[in-house]
Amino acid sequence: MTSWHQWQRAVCVAALLLVVSSIHVFSALEIRRLTVPRWVPNGTDEGVILDCEYEYNQNDLRLVIKWFFNDDLEPVYQWIPQLNLRHVSGVLLNRLDMDYSASPTDPYSQYRALKIAKPSTELSGKYTCLIMSLAGQDSKHQEMTVYAPAQRFHFDYTITHDVVNFTCTATSLNPEPRMKIFFFPDGKQRKVFEGESRTTVRNNNNSFDITFWTTPNSRELPEDRVTEVECFVEVFGSPYRRAQRITYVPGVPGNQVFSNPASKAQVCLSTLLLLIFLSWC
Ligand SMILES: *[C@@H]1O[C@H](CO)[C@@H](O)[C@H](O)[C@H]1NC(C)=O
Ligand SMILES: *[C@@H]1O[C@H](CO)[C@@H](O)[C@H](O)[C@H]1NC(C)=O
Ligand SMILES: *[C@@H]1O[C@H](CO)[C@@H](O)[C@H](O)[C@H]1NC(C)=O
Repeated sequence: MTSWHQWQRAVCVAALLLVVSSIHVFSALEIRRLTVPRWVPNGTDEGVILDCEYEYNQNDLRLVIKWFFNDDLEPVYQWIPQLNLRHVSGVLLNRLDMDYSASPTDPYSQYRALKIAKPSTELSGKYTCLIMSLAGQDSKHQEMTVYAPAQRFHFDYTITHDVVNFTCTATSLNPEPRMKIFFFPDGKQRKVFEGESRTTVRNNNNSFDITFWTTPNSRELPEDRVTEVECFVEVFGSPYRRAQRITYVPGVPGNQVFSNPASKAQVCLSTLLLLIFLSWC
């Protein structure tokens, strides 16, 4: 009697195991490739496409595609192909091009991707694609950063009581930028100044202003010749980098260097003429 029951139970358990395991054996649901660009320029006209390519088969009933932003529990995008149902929420609300189709001929893939028309910096973060069916599921994630170039980038120097002060400013960048001031003592080799001060301000609109200034010593900035000085700003890791180079002419304040390079010579000449005039008359 007992052995019959045991045998019957063993058969039931085996059958159940077979059913459960077959679900996973026959599902082909798998993400083949997740394409999320690492760096995207703010407001780019081309827009940006985040794609999630997957494989499925006829066992993957009730297929659902979800996209998550950072660690939010609610998806920012969800598509159920069988019901032809799409839902957008959170940071992507009103930001998606709903006509975009990554694979127009495949009814179970056509709306898998996100096309964001004008990406902005608040869309920087982690994107996770999750696909699931009654038979299986898979997910993958990747970071995307929308970077903003400097709205203003200015480099110049002032001379106050014989102290030369090089100041470089870049505004409205995102994420936090890095800056450096270099000089070229022999015209080629690049060096950093010994003393440097910096301030970085985070604006209310989540962008950064950065300022560097340095007052070089006489070894770094000799008074008997001109020196090339460069300010460099970058969003570290991104393709964004800019440099501005100016020429320091001893005794000549910064702003006049570009507007009239001959000004110093002219001043000398007129002084000389004045002296000649005074001594002769
Ligand atoms: C990003 O670009 C938008 C225009 O698409 C602009 O309004 C916004 O100020 C820019 N943000 C930054 C941080 O530059
Ligand atoms: C150099 O110029 C900057 C910007 O004008 C200023 O904030 C800083 O105090 C100056 N440094 C010195 C030593 O004068
Ligand atoms: C952000 O705010 C700062 C200061 O309030 C402003 O100067 C700057 O233009 C703003 N940047 C953007 C991108 O809106």
